[in-house]
Amino acid sequence: MAITAIKGFNDILPSEIEKWQHIEKTARDVFGCYGFSEIRVPIMEKTELFCRSIGDATDIVEKEMYTFTDKGDNRVTLRPEGTAGVMRAFIEHKLYAADPVSKLFYMGPMFRYERPQKGRYRQFHQIGAEVTGVSDPKVDAQTLTMLSHFFSELGLDEPSLEINSLGCPECRPAYREILKDFLRQKLDTLCEDCQRRLDTNPLRALDCKVEKCKVATADAPAMLEHLCTACDTHFTETRSYLDLVSTGYRINSRMVRGLDYYTRTTFEMITGLLGSQSAVAAGGRYDGLISDLGGPSVPGIGFAMGVERIALLLDNAKFQTSPALFIVALGEEAQKRAFCLSTELQRAGVSVEFDYEGKSMKSQMRRADKLSCGYTLIIGESELASGVAPLKEMKTGNQFVIALDSKTIAQELKS
Ligand code: HAM
Repeated sequence: MAITAIKGFNDILPSEIEKWQHIEKTARDVFGCYGFSEIRVPIMEKTELFCRSIGDATDIVEKEMYTFTDKGDNRVTLRPEGTAGVMRAFIEHKLYAADPVSKLFYMGPMFRYERPQKGRYRQFHQIGAEVTGVSDPKVDAQTLTMLSHFFSELGLDEPSLEINSLGCPECRPAYREILKDFLRQKLDTLCEDCQRRLDTNPLRALDCKVEKCKVATADAPAMLEHLCTACDTHFTETRSYLDLVSTGYRINSRMVRGLDYYTRTTFEMITGLLGSQSAVAAGGRYDGLISDLGGPSVPGIGFAMGVERIALLLDNAKFQTSPALFIVALGEEAQKRAFCLSTELQRAGVSVEFDYEGKSMKSQMRRADKLSCGYTLIIGESELASGVAPLKEMKTGNQFVIALDSKTIAQELKS
């Protein structure tokens, strides 16, 4: 029996790849305008890095990490997300010393042992961006604006931005107690997970998908009503900067993120088109993470987008490119000429296909059609003798005679 891929691990096939490349290029172009540089970090890190940053009581660390012991007896983990590794590198290479403001982006595979379904995989890809060194709300607003800009550049106006504030170590502990008191009164009506997490991670009850938990927490106290003055001002100013540049958003006071490192601003880009996997991008501020990981006290904010989810929102067909020219060659000499001519044209930057096997004219035309080539050039014995051949534009059917000379053909195709 043939060997298949591991469950939840997908191939990205040629029919989709141009869409992926377009998404990646759009990110590079848009992020470049805001001053971001790319960083590439390993896909595997010491397990401790993720436990300390994402948090021991999160679903990711509790249940979803691909962790194993390597041959040197080290506990290692395939990265479930990008922020931890990027911040590890930021500290290790003292990037904060080179520039007080650092803007980094990354793209690549992440790994989580989740139950696969449409839009949720065990190997998935993120494009992420992180800004460190500034706690000013202008950076929050700019990061969110860049994220919205990226989606509109892709022609996707539907995913909408939701924002919240999760407070800081000053105000969140008190809120957690208020929320715990509230949840304790509803304990019997909560699902098992929410009951179990009451002490370790009570906020998760707010975004539990179980219907009875949604009902029980409908009038739960919100973090936004319990922010300290500094966090409240930060959130208000973030919103006012978003308004200044007309970046649309909605406040979602029940948004809870599945990673522990967040402080203050958190956000998600939500689509209604992918069923339960509605977040196409998510992120937030993490002012304590760098120091928690042993680095200096430097604030940070960032996000990551799920490339598979974005790809599901875009139509493959729009991104497929076709060869500019198909050379139909009849007879051995013509095939040789087609081989030389196509090589010269390819070296000149023109995409060309031809038949390798001496197939019939009909079969070669069929292939040219299937590949949606822009033009066909037909070479037979008489064309070789006269040095000119018919060039046909496939879309219009217009046909004219052209010299069998790569420069002339290249010029015609590029005009
Ligand atoms: P996250 O919310 O865990 O945040 O993931 C970000 C995005 O990755 C999600 O919104 C979703 O689009 C995509 N994603 C997550 N899990 C899967 C999956 N199993 N299959 C397909 N797509 C998935 C983070 O990872 C944070 N590091 C974001 C961040 C950066 N916060 C600050 N900086």
